[in-house]
Amino acid sequence: MVPLAHPAFDIRGSKEELSGKKIVLCVTGSIAAVETIKLARELMRCGADVRAVMSPSAKKIIHPHALQYATGYEVVTELTGKIEHVELCGDREGKADLLLIAPCTANTIGKIAAGIDDTPVTTFATTALGSDIPIIIAPAMHSSMYSHPIVMENIKRLEGLGIEFVRPRMEEGKAKLASIEDIIICVLRVLSRKELQGRKLLITAGGTAEAIDPIRILTSRSSGKTGAELAREAYIRGADVTLVQRGYSPYSEIESIYVESAQQMTDVVLKELKKGCDVLICTAAISDYTVDKSPSKIPSGKKLTLSLRPVPKLIQLVRENHPDLAMVGFKAETNVSTKELISRARSMMDEYKLDLVVANDVGKGGIGEDENEVYIIGNEIMHVKGSKRSIAKKVIDALVEVL
Ligand SMILES: Cc1cc2nc3c(=O)[nH]c(=O)nc-3n(C[C@H](O)[C@H](O)[C@H](O)COP(=O)(O)O)c2cc1C
Repeated sequence: MVPLAHPAFDIRGSKEELSGKKIVLCVTGSIAAVETIKLARELMRCGADVRAVMSPSAKKIIHPHALQYATGYEVVTELTGKIEHVELCGDREGKADLLLIAPCTANTIGKIAAGIDDTPVTTFATTALGSDIPIIIAPAMHSSMYSHPIVMENIKRLEGLGIEFVRPRMEEGKAKLASIEDIIICVLRVLSRKELQGRKLLITAGGTAEAIDPIRILTSRSSGKTGAELAREAYIRGADVTLVQRGYSPYSEIESIYVESAQQMTDVVLKELKKGCDVLICTAAISDYTVDKSPSKIPSGKKLTLSLRPVPKLIQLVRENHPDLAMVGFKAETNVSTKELISRARSMMDEYKLDLVVANDVGKGGIGEDENEVYIIGNEIMHVKGSKRSIAKKVIDALVEVL
């Protein structure tokens, strides 16, 4: 009789980004080991097959049963005659796609840097390094340990060997384990085909805010989700990404610049482009109008007339200054026919010599929501409906083709 699969596998693949990937998740003796269960579950939700390995110190923080429950496999807590390190990380068919050490202590970083392997985790690391299996380390420790010059030196040494580090969050005097989402996007980037490696992308996102007085602003319903998802997808595919946004920047691994007004967004974009850039993606719903700001709060209760003046169009200014820059524009209309929507998007494409335009009718929804329905217009027209993450994947696919 075929044994029933462990119930832990039930969640595998609901997000699919890691399906078919085998990940060895190594856990060391940091208090952040308590986060590892959720990390293992999220990796599985993304479709990965996860095998856990623990150092003896990690076993004093969480019980192996918790990781066995989370992954559905027995946890490696000691090396036996099965030579578990060779079985999973030896240079042989079926070897793991990735070794992820999360959390990683100062001690384990030091041992790997010195080529020492005296725990299951360090022996797996030695074996993975010798088999060319990519390694990601997510450190977690007190900030005084993290700023120890030898720990810093060891991290540099390991980076020199091609090991990726997910930067810890510096909070409350601690170098805390990076967020699960930041670890996941690092995993996806390391395992991706890296079609955008070496490319610099600048992405504008969300709405801007024009100050009426020190308290009130004029803004739009744009959430910045589409821009953030595009930044995530481009980052995963190896690009060097900078997101210019007003208030929504969920991935700390991705460089982000906060701006408030349309003028600030324009100034930042022009400044960043001067540093060198391959592609500008303009998803931001930049204000078309601004207003002279009152220096003090405008009293309430009386009729108020605001005089709005148009602001220079960012996309036009960029095209005038950078005639050869690859650019992706977004066109939002309300309550028009598909034919009219595509025709207006094509006019925008011609006017600013855009490589791609993503058109959507926000009269049907989409703005500020998690899902949308768009037309990606390049040489061909692609109709995509679904989550903003799935739309971002299709837009980046189309961009990779035109580059
Ligand atoms: C409760 C507790 C929490 C700890 N947290 C950390 C930590 O976050 N980072 C770290 O580098 N060491 C931490 N340590 C110290 C390590 O457990 C110790 O250096 C140990 O030798 C690490 O062994 P390993 O790297 O083989 O897991 C902690 C120890 C204890 C008892």
